[in-house]
Parts: sequence; structure tokens; C-alpha cells
Amino acid sequence: MPISNHAFGAIEASVYAPEIFAQGLPAAQRQAHGDRPRQPAAEDAAPLLALEGIGLSFGGVVALADVDLSVRPGEIRAIIGPNGAGKSSLINVISGVYRADRGHVRLYGARYAQVPTQRLAHLGVARTFQNLALFKGLSVLDNVASGLAYRTRSNFAGQILGIGRTRREQQEQRGRADQVLEFLHLTEVRDRLAGTLPYGLQKRAELARALVAEPRLLLLDEPMAGMTAGEKSEMAAYVRAARDRFATTVVLIEHDVGVVMGLSDRVAVLDYGRKIADGTPDEVRNDQRVIDAYLGVASDNEEGAGI
Ligand SMILES: Nc1ncnc2c1ncn2[C@@H]1O[C@H](COP(=O)(O)OP(=O)(O)OP(=O)(O)O)[C@@H](O)[C@H]1O
Ligand SMILES: [Mg+2]
Repeated sequence: MPISNHAFGAIEASVYAPEIFAQGLPAAQRQAHGDRPRQPAAEDAAPLLALEGIGLSFGGVVALADVDLSVRPGEIRAIIGPNGAGKSSLINVISGVYRADRGHVRLYGARYAQVPTQRLAHLGVARTFQNLALFKGLSVLDNVASGLAYRTRSNFAGQILGIGRTRREQQEQRGRADQVLEFLHLTEVRDRLAGTLPYGLQKRAELARALVAEPRLLLLDEPMAGMTAGEKSEMAAYVRAARDRFATTVVLIEHDVGVVMGLSDRVAVLDYGRKIADGTPDEVRNDQRVIDAYLGVASDNEEGAGI
């Protein structure tokens, strides 16, 4: 069976089996993640991430205006809104690519005017990009292993000579990359150059690279953009499985309302840089402002609806 055509049911059966989650994870890693919630935390739990009064403008363009957002540990938190609403800008503020003109980001309780983007991986934050950002001339395996490069302790001479700790580090990183590739059913294409993969598999490989470090917070900017309905369902299953396996908190931007409503614990809606609704999928689906602004008939017939 071609790897891009996994039946959704087959993925569910294999990806969701708890014994498969446990396999392949070294005991130390399982222990390290033992304190993470596998289910979204209760409403009164301290947020893992909070945005407070975020404002951001580019010249005369207001990308974000007074945006508050709280993200609970373990939840899948969607951000939706039409083109230009400020969704990617929000992820760029969370990941420190942009410095907000106003407001703060709180990550695990620490307050930042600008999140230190060069330390993002060390902070346990990983992201994917709206436009693919793989190294197209490297193998899928090397792309995924590159998600652990920030942990490399070898010095430059060691890397050139390929000795000692360097070789051990590379082996360990590739071993962990292989585990994630297996988890996302990408083992068959591990040695292919990333740029030669079909688009849907490139998106999945990018997810693999983000997951390899087992981030506490995973930021996904349109991981299903440009996919067929079947590929979107697959990707949604992988995102949920990743949250469950790694106990990761997910912030997800997605245009397909049907996918968002089925996958997310809570949804925030942006419009012209302002947050106009925030709540459970049902609350947002029934919010008159959201219906008026975007959903229209999609609230009655959401399958495949986009905004
Ligand atoms: N680096 C930048 N320089 C200038 N303007 C920017 C920059 N980044 C974003 N903007 C502007 O900010 C606004 C919000 O853009 P953003 O990319 O965040 O929207 P979006 O919701 O992600 O849209 P899309 O659904 O099309 O990806 C837009 O008007 C955009 O042109
Ligand atoms: Mg965007």
C-alpha cells in the first residue's frame, strides 16, 4: 500500500494502541514525561501559555489588536479566521519571531516581552511553518534528526572528524528520529530526499521534525493546508495521537472548520487582528458573530467547510 494512502481506520488502530505508544520510548523518556497531562487540564488549571493584551502592527497594518489567549496544558487549541486575520502573526509572537508592540507572552508562568526565539527548542517549544521549511536536499531522516541539533554538544572539530561523542550523538539522534518516523508511518521514505516527497508527506515529515524533541508546546501553522479531505483526516489523527503520546500541548491554525471542530478542545476566532470569539467548538459554532462573519451555512454543513 502506498504510504500516502493509509486508511484512516488503519491509522487509528495502529497509532492509538497504548502499547504502541509505550514501545520504543526509553524508560527515562517515559519517566521524564510522566508528569505531563495526557488529557486537557481542568478549566481552572494554570495555563501553560497565555497571551496578554498582544498588539502588533506593520506600518499602518494592524496584525493583532489587544489579543488575550490562554492555553491549558494538554489541550488542542485552534485559532481560526480568514486570510490576513493575524493567525500566523500570533504564532510568530508566541515563538518569538515577532516582538509584540504591546502585551506579554507567559510561557510556563514566565513573562516575556519577546520570547527568546533562539532558545525556543530549549524551552520545549517546536513549530511547523505555513510554507514548508524542510531541507529539500537532505533525507527525511536527516531532516527529522535536525530537530535535535540544538542538543548537540560536540565541538566543531569533533563534527568534522566524526569521532567520539559526535558519532554517539548522531546515532542517538537518528535513533530517535527513526522512532518518530515509525510513529508517523514514514519509515518507508526515511532515506528519500525530502524535496522529492509528495506534498502531504512533506507536511507529515515537518510534523515529525517538530515532534522529535518531544516538545511541551507544539505550534502548527496550517499543517493540513493544500491537502485532500482524506489527507486532512490522516493528519488530524496524527496530531491527536502526537498530543496523546507525548502529552504535548498543541496550538493549531487551520482553515477547515470541519477538521478544527472535530479535533480541538477550544477554538479562538480572529478577525482583522481581533479575537471575536473563544470557546469550545460548540460554543464557537453557535456564536452569532462567528456565524455572521464566517461560518454561514458552514455551521449547518461543516464538512469540508473552509474560511
Ligand atoms: N512581516 C510582515 N510584514 C508586513 N506585514 C505583515 C507581516 N506579517 C504579517 N503581516 C500582515 O499582518 C496581517 C496578518 O497577517 P498574518 O500572516 O498573520 O495573517 P493570517 O491570519 O496568518 O493569514 P493567512 O490565513 O493568509 O495565512 C496581514 O495584513 C499581513 O499582510
Ligand atoms: Mg497565516
